[in-house]
Amino acid sequence: MEKKNIDWANLGFSYMQTDQRFVSNYRDGAWDEGSLTADPNIVLNECAGVLQYAQTVFEGLKAYTTEDGRIVTFRPDLNAERLENSARRLEIPVYPKEKFLDAIDRVVAANAAYVPPYGSGATLYIRPYIFGTNAVIGVKPADEYQFRVFTTPVGPYFKGGIKPLTIKVSDFDRAAPHGTGHIKAGLNYAMSLHAIVTAHAEGFDENMYLDAATRTKVEETGGANFIFITKDNKVVTPKSNSILPSITRRSLMTVAKDYLGLEVEEREVYFDEVGDFAECGLCGTAAVISPVGKINDHGKEIVFPSGMEDMGPVTRKLYDTLTGIQMGHLEAPEGWIREIPVK
Ligand code: PLP
Ligand code: COI
Repeated sequence: MEKKNIDWANLGFSYMQTDQRFVSNYRDGAWDEGSLTADPNIVLNECAGVLQYAQTVFEGLKAYTTEDGRIVTFRPDLNAERLENSARRLEIPVYPKEKFLDAIDRVVAANAAYVPPYGSGATLYIRPYIFGTNAVIGVKPADEYQFRVFTTPVGPYFKGGIKPLTIKVSDFDRAAPHGTGHIKAGLNYAMSLHAIVTAHAEGFDENMYLDAATRTKVEETGGANFIFITKDNKVVTPKSNSILPSITRRSLMTVAKDYLGLEVEEREVYFDEVGDFAECGLCGTAAVISPVGKINDHGKEIVFPSGMEDMGPVTRKLYDTLTGIQMGHLEAPEGWIREIPVK
């Protein structure tokens, strides 16, 4: 299969239309078979549930080209499970896991020419989502839905690649206790837009959100979980019911323990103790691991010893090991890598 003529090394994190996407519709209480289509557009009723009351949930995962030329995805079963949890919370019908995995395989295979080559620094981002399609004017769930998966080749999420970021402590809350912070709902991102535009206008790369109830504990950013490294090389990550259970973060905890022999801790992290850590990073599918060099708390700066030039040494080891597993030059734990059947 011949690859598209794309400047892979200079891709940012943006949408590029690819050849095929998968579409399945839910009507009369059941999902149809679904199929691939070349049409990237959706025609919706003006009163569709998604347009009026934001009834939509989504996922994000990537396809990678391995060193030996295979195309693989990373733990897509966990994306299927998280989409199921997200759907249940927004009264959206669940898209079955086996059908989800099959849809991902088919879309990636159909767009194999857009999967960036090994070593290019780029990957194919995969965006599955479900949204309410029929007219809804009283506040209630839709009766009809669409499940859709498109792909787009992407480079680094943050401009500047893996240069350490400067982030600010946000004055806005991301998620309420007992709200929707733990699921991947479009509404969580809509309400973060003003906060991110504000942060960018002030010269920061991202927001650190604190817990809404007490504003004393670290939660996450708009699109990634936090990891911290202590001065004695322990990997610490915040535990909270109102953050997204990041698949990257869960994988990194295993990588730290089983591949690097590091101690790991998932616990409440108080903002007061953040200045004691040696390294800080943001982790997620899009962010991979993006190092944080500096945190600004209303003018007071926390500068990590790892500095503004490079990733800290432990973050670097985590990054190399995780991407090594994803790109197939390190052996993966059982079940982490799914090979895409490309004809
Ligand atoms: N937190 C938020 C709010 C996110 O949007 C994401 C991205 O998916 C993550 C964390 C990271 O999750 P994952 O590692 O599963 O991509
Ligand atoms: C992802 O990492 O897949 C995400 O969904 C983050 C997103 C905000 C780009």
